[in-house]
Amino acid sequence: MTTLTLQSPLDMHLHLRQDAMLKAVAPLTAETFAGAVIMPNLVPPVDSLERLQWYKKEILAATGRDDFEPYMTLFFRSYTREELEAAKPHIIGIKLYPAGITTNSEGGVSQIDQAEPTIRLMEELGIPLMIHGESNGFVMDRETEFLSIYQRLAERFPRLKIIMEHITTAGALALLNQFENLHATVTVQHLIITLDDVAGGMLDPHLFCKPIAKRPEDRTALAHAAVSAHPKLSLGTDSAPHPQHKKECCGCAAGVFTAPIALQLLAGLFEENDALDKLQAFVSDNAQRIYGVKPPAKTVTLEKKPFTIPASYGDVVPMWAGRTIPWSVTSVE
Ligand code: NCD
Ligand code: ZN
Repeated sequence: MTTLTLQSPLDMHLHLRQDAMLKAVAPLTAETFAGAVIMPNLVPPVDSLERLQWYKKEILAATGRDDFEPYMTLFFRSYTREELEAAKPHIIGIKLYPAGITTNSEGGVSQIDQAEPTIRLMEELGIPLMIHGESNGFVMDRETEFLSIYQRLAERFPRLKIIMEHITTAGALALLNQFENLHATVTVQHLIITLDDVAGGMLDPHLFCKPIAKRPEDRTALAHAAVSAHPKLSLGTDSAPHPQHKKECCGCAAGVFTAPIALQLLAGLFEENDALDKLQAFVSDNAQRIYGVKPPAKTVTLEKKPFTIPASYGDVVPMWAGRTIPWSVTSVE
């Protein structure tokens, strides 16, 4: 029996929502992950220390365990030095959304220049900037069009740690390699699927997310970087739950739900690439180094034993619901 043991897996990009959805999905992540970077795109957004502390309490109450650490983020707006100094000990970074680019991002940034005073303060105080890097151009080109903004920020703020969130293209990977202060997360789905899986045959709303999955050569480049444990790349699932009726409808919400199946899918991908020994770096060690975190101890064992992905988790349909995949999580200690 092939088995694989992972120490303290981390998800560096996660949506947990609030209220009933939070209560339903947070325990699923806390089951197999030792920590996660929590996205602030609630309605209204998490953009004050007070709201962030309230949200963190809600998350801890929803998981009900002490071996899971929520790493909190603030929603980017113009912040004063005082606000940033007060927030710094409580956050892993600040998440910048271009206005209106994705779910609940209406309050995001419409002019990147106007964001510069706050970004300068973040650089000075050593607060990482996490970015949803998409323009509002043609859907397949949005990330590529944003690369010049990443480049400009990387050049203008050389001491700022910039995280390119959920990269989906070979071009983003190339830029990542050019600047020391750029880092990136990548989702499970973008390592496995292309636009063909979303819309090439029968439309699969459960694979629809922002950024949209791209071309085969993009997927190949990203998967190659992940399975070779690219030192600047970490897992960020971007697991983004929406109730079934918001996905299976006209006007489908963007977001793929992978939290409870992410490690199993990754074990399959890394095994296919003869790289099971690289998965630890991709799911935890790289992130610990890049973000300077020490997660709670958690040992997750996977076995090569078929696992049928549930049709739903409560009201949320996961990626590949009903499919049988080769790896299962068999114990968590
Ligand atoms: C995310 C969501 O639903 O909050 N959706 C998505 O498609 N990824 C927002 C985001 O991260 O873009
Ligand atoms: Zn996201």
